[in-house]
Parts: sequence; C-alpha cells; structure tokens
Amino acid sequence: MALLPILCYPDPKLHKVAKPVQAVDARVHQLVSDMLETMYEAKGIGLAATQVDVHERLIVIDVSEDRQQPLVLINPALVWTSPETHLNEEGCLSVPGIYDGVQRFDAIKVTALDGAGKSRTLEADGMLAVCIQHEMDHLLGKVFVEYLSPLKRNRIKTKMLKAQREERDDKD
Ligand code: NI
Repeated sequence: MALLPILCYPDPKLHKVAKPVQAVDARVHQLVSDMLETMYEAKGIGLAATQVDVHERLIVIDVSEDRQQPLVLINPALVWTSPETHLNEEGCLSVPGIYDGVQRFDAIKVTALDGAGKSRTLEADGMLAVCIQHEMDHLLGKVFVEYLSPLKRNRIKTKMLKAQREERDDKD
C-alpha cells in the first residue's frame, strides 16, 4: 500500500482524457488499493485515477458514514440519466478548500467492471449519483470548477496557484 500524490488544479495533467483499462490484473489491483488508501487518508468521498496522474478509466468512491464501503468502478459508462437535475454543492481533492454548486442528474445508471473485473450495473441517486458524475468527469479531463463562471474559475485558479507557491516556499 502506498499513498499517491494528488494533482492540484490548475495542473494541466488534470485535463488529460483517460483511456480504458485493458485488463483488471495485479497492477490494477495495486492501483485500486493505493487509490483507496489515498482517498481515505485525504478524507475524500471519491478519487479518479486522473487525479493521481494515471490516465485510465478507474474511479474509487466511498460515500458511506462508516467509510468501510469502497466502490470501485473500472471503465464506467453512463447508460441512463434521470430527466431531473439539481444543483449540488461539490468539492474536490484536487481543488482543496473550494466548494460550489454544480448541476447534476438526480439519478443515473452506470455499467462498469468492479475491482475483481466483474461486469455490473449500478443504479445510484443522491450523493452517490453526484459523486459518480463528478469522478467520471475527471476521466474526461474535466474538473468541477469548469462548470463555474469564467470569473469564479479565474479567481479559484489564482487562489490555488498562490497556495501552491506558498507551500513550495515553506518547503525551501
Ligand atoms: Ni474531484
């Protein structure tokens, strides 16, 4: 097990489009295990492989209260979305400290491989549905702040770059 470094917005690597996972093999098992450890350590509810600079279609999620119900989605595909959407406040481990509203489908149906490589269909609503949509966006190279107005986004970009500069200066 290992903690993986999480890319921070506006790192251009966050905008790479992920490729399908070719085989759920030992390498992928290790990646899943490292991503789960990284997500739990960072107190996040979801993490996409893109965020740890692996550009393959893999996400891990745990929206449970006890933080013991990991969900692994490999090569996820949306097969149904509800006609209803709602505005939901979101945050992201790659944009620490920023929370803002994004319009998402209320309910979705997704097909994916699980951590064992088994094909499954998942119906989700509530926070899980929001989280899956947020993480699947990462695989397309999209960070949630891109739904916000250019003005807000630029403000966030400036704030993130300043925080990253300060962090670097502290280390020197
Ligand atoms: Ni995120």
